[in-house]
Amino acid sequence: MARELSQVGVVGLGTMGAGITEVLARAGLDVTAVEVSAEALGRGRGHLEQSTEKAVQRGKLDAADREALLARVRWSTSLDDLAEAELVVEAIPERMELKTEVFARLDKICPPDTILATNTSSLSVTELSVATGRPSKVIGMHFFNPAPVMKLVEVISTVVTEPSVIADVEALAERLGKTDVTVGDKAGFIANALLFGYLNHAVSMYEAKYASREDIDAAMRLGCGLPMGPLALMDLIGIDTAYEILDTMYRQSRDRLHAPSPIIKQLMTAGLLGRKTGRGFYTYAGRDSAEVVPDALTPTPGGAAEGARPVQKVGLVGSGTMATGMVEVFAKAGYDTVVVARSPEKVDGVLAAVARSLDKQITRGRLDEDGKAAVLARLTGTTDRADLADVDLVVEAVVESLEVKQELFAELGRVCKPGAVLATTTSSLPVIECAQASGRPGDVVGLHFFNPATVMKLVEVVSTVATADDVAATAHAVCGRLGKHAVSCTDRSGFIVNALLFPYLNDAVRMLQAHYATADDIDAAMKVGCGYPMGPFELLDTVGLDVSLAIERELYTEFREPGFAPAPLLEHLVTAGYLGRKTGRGFREHVRR
Ligand code: 3HC
Repeated sequence: MARELSQVGVVGLGTMGAGITEVLARAGLDVTAVEVSAEALGRGRGHLEQSTEKAVQRGKLDAADREALLARVRWSTSLDDLAEAELVVEAIPERMELKTEVFARLDKICPPDTILATNTSSLSVTELSVATGRPSKVIGMHFFNPAPVMKLVEVISTVVTEPSVIADVEALAERLGKTDVTVGDKAGFIANALLFGYLNHAVSMYEAKYASREDIDAAMRLGCGLPMGPLALMDLIGIDTAYEILDTMYRQSRDRLHAPSPIIKQLMTAGLLGRKTGRGFYTYAGRDSAEVVPDALTPTPGGAAEGARPVQKVGLVGSGTMATGMVEVFAKAGYDTVVVARSPEKVDGVLAAVARSLDKQITRGRLDEDGKAAVLARLTGTTDRADLADVDLVVEAVVESLEVKQELFAELGRVCKPGAVLATTTSSLPVIECAQASGRPGDVVGLHFFNPATVMKLVEVVSTVATADDVAATAHAVCGRLGKHAVSCTDRSGFIVNALLFPYLNDAVRMLQAHYATADDIDAAMKVGCGYPMGPFELLDTVGLDVSLAIERELYTEFREPGFAPAPLLEHLVTAGYLGRKTGRGFREHVRR
């Protein structure tokens, strides 16, 4: 039977410590909250008061419960006040020497059966445990920021943690309304180990000026449904905390992908620690504010579309899912749209699919019959590429074969009028190859839509070394009229989204392969700890393991980064024909539909 803890302590009242205090007090525990100085204590108290006030305003807590919650917290600047605590959670800065000192002091102050927990994100819990005379009573209890909102708690047991201590902490996590996963003591545990490789990668992309901070963040929010972009998340976590986590991970893994990108240290040294200081990658309205305010790096609205060529008539080449979705998107946005497919049947297939989709929208009350008629009136179909002679923009979505695309672009170069913009939706081939084949590389741009094109808001606008500025601007202007959010990047494998997403998915497969955690725990950690809409294994099974492997191979081939080499487990599953949902089995078994 797990102990029911009632008297607890929290040491360190920064963002995390204050959040943990709130969570514990909210669940009815008496909390002694300790900070080093009256000033730091005041700040921690302010955090708690503000956060609970927000919870009341949002209807998550009633005013009387808030008062009771605040009354359960005793504020102190002395660790001696923890002499009665049954459990203490330490949440001071991520520095081993500070933590070991606090643990050694707590060991002397607290009764012998008090559980000493650390909220460390990556430091060794084992090393902390041996700083005390009670290593078996030391455990990791890793909360996520913001602690009152994120439901995950990682429970870290070391080789010496007593099973009863693990049971007590798991029971407490449940009482706090959290989802707990229990794992061993490895830098980054589950969620940070997967999250920080990705965050560091995003930072290095920004540092290399591959894309702007706004575009990297928008790409991951809109392309993957993440609640925040990686650079905004770095600011939420705190640049100093992120640096310490990466540095610890690097020291343990020696994986250069974990070596903190230089700009992280520069921001840290300059005191630009993110939201908590009012500036990090972004600038905020003030200390601890979530409101981003414009600064010198903020792009001017509409700036990317300045100088665009006029577009009224558009040609869409292809008859697959992406082409069909895009035909609907263009025609609905008011463009005269010509569909070019390989046979009259395929042309009819696209037009019929668009009509069916419009009917569905009528049934759902989102469109009326007149609207449908207007969209269909803007659509024509043909099998003859010569009919593209008068279009202002061609977007191709034919099969992902370089040969096929090169042949198509060579013909587009011949038949399209001078000044027409030629776009490819390729997600994996170099856009410059299509550009060269066209004989007019300045006119060629990548327009990477996401599936389903009618729903996904993101489009990556890919400029090659040869793309003319007004061609990229045209792509932005057209995306604006389509109601899409365009981000700019250059012609590298994976563009923004796939380049950031697939190495993370690969890391998850490696973690599973190393038997550190189960697929269920890894999926839960990313969903509940970081608010991801799907865990990595759910996503891999949905995307298809073969497709994922192909993308990972391309990334590896382009960047020759050892950390991007596809995990052997993924290769084996693909070889075995376990491709995910589409074959009924991938990382999990699926009911075939
Ligand atoms: N108590 C209870 N609920 C609260 C609350 C409180 N004190 N404060 C806010 N909420 C609720 C709000 O009411 C709201 O719920 P609702 O939508 O049902 O009304 C929800 O929490 C979020 O509301 P906010 O207005 O505060 O903010 P957003 O909707 O803009 O979401 C976010 C903010 C939750 C931070 C979201 O962007 C997100 O999930 N981001 C990802 C965060 C993440 O990845 N965290 C993990 C970082 S890694 C880490 O922490 C590990 C460490 O070791 C570094």
